[in-house]
Amino acid sequence: MSTSIESVLQEHRIFNPSPEFVAQANVSGMDAYKALCAEAEADYEGYWGRLAREHIVWKQPFSTVLDETKAPFYKWFPDGKLNVSWNCLDKNVEAGLGDKTAIIFEADQGEVTKVSYRELLGRVARFANALKGLGVKKGDRVIIYLPMSIEGVVAMQACARIGATHSVVFGGFSAQSLRDRIEDAGAVLIITADEQCRGGRNIPLKPAVDEALTLSGTDSIKNVVVYQRTGGPSVMTAGRDVWWHEVVANQSDVCEPEWVEAEHPLFLLYTSGSTGKPKGVQHSTGGYLLHSILTMKWTFDLKPDDVFWCTADIGWVTGHTYITYGPLACGGTEIVFEGVPTFPNAGRFWQMIQNHKVNIFYTAPTAIRSLIKAAEGNPDVAHPKNFDLTSLRVLGSVGEPINPEAWMWYYENIGGGRCPVMDTFWQTETGGHVITPLPGVTPLVPGSCTLPFPGIMVSVVDEAGHDVEWGKGGFLVIKRPWPSMIRTIWNDPERFKHSYFPEDLGGKLYLAGDGAVRDAQTGYFTIMGRIDDVLNVSGHRMGTMEIESALVSHPLVAEAAVVGKPHDIKGEAVVAYVVLKRSRPVGEEAKQIVKELRDHVGHEIGPIAKPDEIRFGDNLPKTRSGKIMRRLLRTLAKGEEITSDVSTLENPHILDQLKEVVK
Ligand code: WTA
Repeated sequence: MSTSIESVLQEHRIFNPSPEFVAQANVSGMDAYKALCAEAEADYEGYWGRLAREHIVWKQPFSTVLDETKAPFYKWFPDGKLNVSWNCLDKNVEAGLGDKTAIIFEADQGEVTKVSYRELLGRVARFANALKGLGVKKGDRVIIYLPMSIEGVVAMQACARIGATHSVVFGGFSAQSLRDRIEDAGAVLIITADEQCRGGRNIPLKPAVDEALTLSGTDSIKNVVVYQRTGGPSVMTAGRDVWWHEVVANQSDVCEPEWVEAEHPLFLLYTSGSTGKPKGVQHSTGGYLLHSILTMKWTFDLKPDDVFWCTADIGWVTGHTYITYGPLACGGTEIVFEGVPTFPNAGRFWQMIQNHKVNIFYTAPTAIRSLIKAAEGNPDVAHPKNFDLTSLRVLGSVGEPINPEAWMWYYENIGGGRCPVMDTFWQTETGGHVITPLPGVTPLVPGSCTLPFPGIMVSVVDEAGHDVEWGKGGFLVIKRPWPSMIRTIWNDPERFKHSYFPEDLGGKLYLAGDGAVRDAQTGYFTIMGRIDDVLNVSGHRMGTMEIESALVSHPLVAEAAVVGKPHDIKGEAVVAYVVLKRSRPVGEEAKQIVKELRDHVGHEIGPIAKPDEIRFGDNLPKTRSGKIMRRLLRTLAKGEEITSDVSTLENPHILDQLKEVVK
C-alpha cells in the first residue's frame, strides 16, 4: 500500500457534499451536525435519552439514561425493557411494511431469494420456538457457525427474540478456535450448516463442529442444529444433532418476544487483543440497538426505498451491526451475499449493484484494492465501467485505513464522482461507527475518517492522558461512555478494565488501541494503525501472540515471533520468524516445513491466520536480557536495511539469516 501518514496529511483534495445531496440528507449540512454535537456537549444524558426514546420502541420506558456508579462498567437505559427482534421485525410489520422486502439473498451461484418482513418474522418466530423446544433459555449462550445465509440472520434474530446471547464464529475459523469459544462462552447449543458455498466450491462446515466437540471443554453443548445448505454428506450424532428443517417443521410462527432489560447481553463476539486468547466482547441490547439505528440513518443516510448492501460476513462485527440489526431495525431492504467478489469473475460486485439497483454500498479497502487490480487486468469483464452503477448514492469503507489512491478510484469509478465515501472508523468494541463523515455534512478528504459521530467524544492524547495539539500524533481515546460501547469481556472483567481503561491514562478514558493524529487546520482524524500487537490482514483482526502460540504448538518449533508488513492488497501481511528445535532448515526441506507450519496454523486458528512468509533462524534477535527485538524484525520484514546500532544485541549475526525468505 503506497499510503503513509505523510501522504494523508498532505492530502489537500476536498470533496464537498453536493447541494442536492445536502437538501435531502437525514442530517443536512454542517450546522445541523454542529447542533447535534452542541446538544450532546450541553446535556449528554439528555441527548442520548432523547434519541433512545425517538428511535427505539420500548416495552417499558427507561427513567435513568446513564448509570456510572460502577464505572467503567457503565449502564445505559438500565430500567428500560425491550426486544431487539421485535424492534427489527414486528415493529415494521405493524407499521404496514409486512410485504416489503427485508432481505434479497444472492447465493454463490447467483440464485436470488427475496424475503418479506412478514415472512422473516414468521421464520424467526418458528426458529425461536424451536430453540425454546431444545431448552434454550434467556441468558443461555448459543454459538452460531454458519455461512452467509438468510438462516444466519434468522438464527441471530431468533436468539435475540428469546433473550439468548449469541456468539457468532466466522466460518473460516478452525475446530480449535471454535472449541476455545465454546468453552469460554459456556455455550449450550451450536447452530451450523452441512457445508458452505464459496467461489463455486462446496466446503464442509459441520466436520469442524464435530471435531471441536471431541475436544475437552465443550461438554456444555447439548445440541447442534444443522442447516442443510447443500445436502452434502453429514454425520449426525443421534441425540445431539438435529436438522434445522426438522426442528422448525411443526413450530408456530408466533413467538412472544422475551422482554429484556436494556443491559441484557445481546451478543458476545470474540476478537483479538494484544495478549492471550481472543476476548469475548459483550454487547448490550438497548444501547447497541440505538447506535445501529442512528448510524444507518445518519452515516448511510438510509431512506425508506433504499437497497442497502454491506458485503461483510456475519462472523464479524460489521455483519452484526450492518446486516443483522441496523438495516432491519430501520425497516430497510438489504442484500445478503453468500459468495466471493471474484466469482464467477471480479465483476460480481458491480453486476450485483446493477441487478439489484443498490443505493448504498459498504465494503472494505482490501476488496476495493483487489478489485482495482482485477479491473485493470481484465477491463472487458471486471471493470466497473461495464455496469450501470447509477443507482448508487452513498459508498462506505470499513475495517482498515483506506489509502487515498483506493479512495479516489472508489469515488470515481464506483461512485461516478457523485457518491460521498464514508470512511467509517470503529471497532468490535464500539458497536458502530465512532469517527465518520456524514454524507450530507462533511467535506471529504481521501484517507481521513474525518470527524466524530455526533455525541461520541473522541480525542487524541499523550502517555499521561492529556490532549495533544492538533497535528501531533497520540493515542486515540473516547472520553465519555457511549451507548453502544463494549460492556465487559466475558469471564474477564479485570482484563476489560485494564485493556480499555488503563490506569496510566487515569482510568477514565476508553483506549481504542489505535494511534491517530488530527489535522492541524481542520481537526480531521487520520488513523495511524494499531499501537499494540494486533495485525489487520485484509480487514481481519489478528493478534501476533495467537499466531505465535499456534506456531509454537507445532512439535518442531522452539520459538516464533510474528510481525506485520505492509501489503498492497491486504493492507498487512503476516511474517513469521521461526526457530526450530533442530538445526535451521534450508532448501527443499525448508519449503516442506513452511508448508507444514502454514497448514498447522490453518488448523489451529483458521486459514486467514496462515503466515504469508516464514523465515528460519538459529535464534531470534534478542537483547542481552533476552527480549525479542520486534522493531528489527519489522524492519527486516519490510526488506529494509537496519541502520540502528545493533551492538547491544546478544546475537547480531542472526539478522543475516532472518533476511532470507523461504520461497
Ligand atoms: C481498524 C472493524 C482505519 C482499526 C469494524 C481498529 C480502521 C480495528 C478503520 C478494529 C478505518 C477499522 N480506518 N482503521 N475506517 N476501521 N479500522 O474490531 O485498527 O474488526 O482498531 O472492527 O480496525 O477492527 P474490528
